[in-house]
Amino acid sequence: MNWLAGTLGSSIGKKLMMALTGLGFCGFLAGHLAGNLTIYWGKNAFNSYAEHLHSLGPLITLAELGLLFFALIHILTGTTLFYQNLKARPFRYSVNKNAGGRTIGSRTMPYTGFILLSFIVLHLINFHFVDKTGTTIYQIVHGAFANPGYVAIYVFAMIVAAIHISHGFWSVFQTLGANHVKYMPFIKGVSIVFSLIVALGFGFLPVYLAYMV
Ligand code: HEM
Repeated sequence: MNWLAGTLGSSIGKKLMMALTGLGFCGFLAGHLAGNLTIYWGKNAFNSYAEHLHSLGPLITLAELGLLFFALIHILTGTTLFYQNLKARPFRYSVNKNAGGRTIGSRTMPYTGFILLSFIVLHLINFHFVDKTGTTIYQIVHGAFANPGYVAIYVFAMIVAAIHISHGFWSVFQTLGANHVKYMPFIKGVSIVFSLIVALGFGFLPVYLAYMV
């Protein structure tokens, strides 16, 4: 674990860790969304997708442990960077100009990150650490969204996720050195498109299950 302590100790190491774990989450989100879209094919399609996933057994456990490891690094490093920035700027400027290309996404990263973490804890309680005996995953998800409070929380969380990703995605490429003036507009475009896919793809599912089936 010495390499981890060493990497997390340096500033560029921290940015690199944020970038790599963030990229991992984007990959997970793309896969998770693709799987969740089977809901539109009906309950049998969604249940058989979930069963197929669980039949992978140890591979799924390994992927879950990998996600947990990534999450711990992302949260630990992100929190450290947040406090380091606070310490470096102990007072707030009275004029808060939108200088240096700062966007709503970049300015709110720690806050949107914290909201997402709270969402993920709630989400795992809702769908992962739930008693699945005598029921199906479709019934569990459909049942949760019969509650308008959950629909509202999920739609809000997906908007927050989109704001977080709209900055995080292109920032990964900047950290990895792909901040060439020629490619950056394209990378920023892909970042916006990906965050919209996440917001609309995930965000519409609770509304669909609650009011359209
Ligand atoms: C409408 C949106 C979403 C729905 C309906 C949904 C549905 C589900 C379901 C049913 C599971 C449990 C799978 C199982 O154990 O069989 C799950 C797991 C999970 N979801 Fe979501 N999800 C949504 C959005 C999200 C988002 C936006 C994130 C991340 C920010 C996320 C992260 C996770 C994680 C980390 C797991 C645990 C994965 C595992 O342990 O295998 N989900 N989701």
